[in-house]
Amino acid sequence: MSEKLLEIDNLSVCFHLPEGVARAVDRLSLNIAKGETLGLVGESGCGKSVTSMSIMGLIASPPGRIESGRILFQGKNLLELNRENLRRIRGKEISMIFQEPMTSLNPVISIGRQVAEPLMIHKGLSKSEAFDEATGWLEHVKIPAAGKQLKDYPYQLSGGMLQRVMIAMAMVCRPKLLIADEPTTALDVTIQAQILALMSGLKEELGMSLLLITHDFGVIAQMATQVLVMYAGQIVEEASVTRIFDRPFHPYTQGLLKSIPQAGGRAKGRVKRLREIAGTVPALTEVIVGCKFADRCPYTFDLCRQQQPTLDRIQNGHRARCWLHEHPERGRGNV
Ligand SMILES: Nc1ncnc2c1ncn2[C@@H]1O[C@H](COP(=O)(O)OP(=O)(O)O)[C@@H](O)[C@H]1O
Ligand SMILES: [Mg+2]
Repeated sequence: MSEKLLEIDNLSVCFHLPEGVARAVDRLSLNIAKGETLGLVGESGCGKSVTSMSIMGLIASPPGRIESGRILFQGKNLLELNRENLRRIRGKEISMIFQEPMTSLNPVISIGRQVAEPLMIHKGLSKSEAFDEATGWLEHVKIPAAGKQLKDYPYQLSGGMLQRVMIAMAMVCRPKLLIADEPTTALDVTIQAQILALMSGLKEELGMSLLLITHDFGVIAQMATQVLVMYAGQIVEEASVTRIFDRPFHPYTQGLLKSIPQAGGRAKGRVKRLREIAGTVPALTEVIVGCKFADRCPYTFDLCRQQQPTLDRIQNGHRARCWLHEHPERGRGNV
């Protein structure tokens, strides 16, 4: 259909730890088209951040290691680029915003300088040109009295304002791809809605693609066109956003959907624990022969414990990793 911007093919990332090898990302493939928003959903510890850090070339090695795969950005394999070429792409063509702005903002550098810096590095602007443009971006992300706030330090701003600064920093070079890793998880619902609206506006304006990582299907419903559900390092379901809400196939996806925080409830946009599915994500160092979700699945039968399901086509563009696909009678009419 549309032009591919990012293509990940068979990516496996492991961490070599004293307690064993953690398979954080296990043969993951995904595509993001130009202008598309791909949502990557899953509970904590499923390998979402490791996937995004791999794209950015930020996996610390050791203990991390990319064991296999290719990450093609505009046809170029990022895993084969030298540091210099990677740096040229990172922050300019691909940028990233994180859940906690304080992990990426430098506490002892003014926010103006931090927003202006990528412009000096990547676009060769002079200091005053870069600061002018930085002010424009801070206004654009609706930071009040942006000109004055340039001199402020991160500790002087609220969480929502810091996230706006992060967005400005990520946008200044007009990237083709923005990776947002749980960008609103730490914020309360009202601020979350404002930040999401800001991100979708900028996405439209710049025509960029967005890889949006979250554990919240509510955020996905609002932002994404295509969805990948990740469990214990693997993609377990892939579909368009409409299809995933109408006909979720994987029992894990069904559980996640039932756990969407209710509007008006106490939830702060966080799903700490799945209300519908008992248990937690297995330790990724554990060697599991069959389906990694078997221990928590309400439909588990013999085959699920014996053999790992493959990611099979359910319908055009809809795939799921679940034996119920071949044995629908085991789904007790629920799937
Ligand atoms: N720096 C690291 N050192 C060791 N193990 C790590 C590191 N980062 C991630 N992992 C392993 O990868 C798993 C997945 O992590 P992550 O991608 O951060 O999960 P998510 O973003 O889905 O919550 C972790 O549970 C852990 O086992
Ligand atoms: Mg994460």
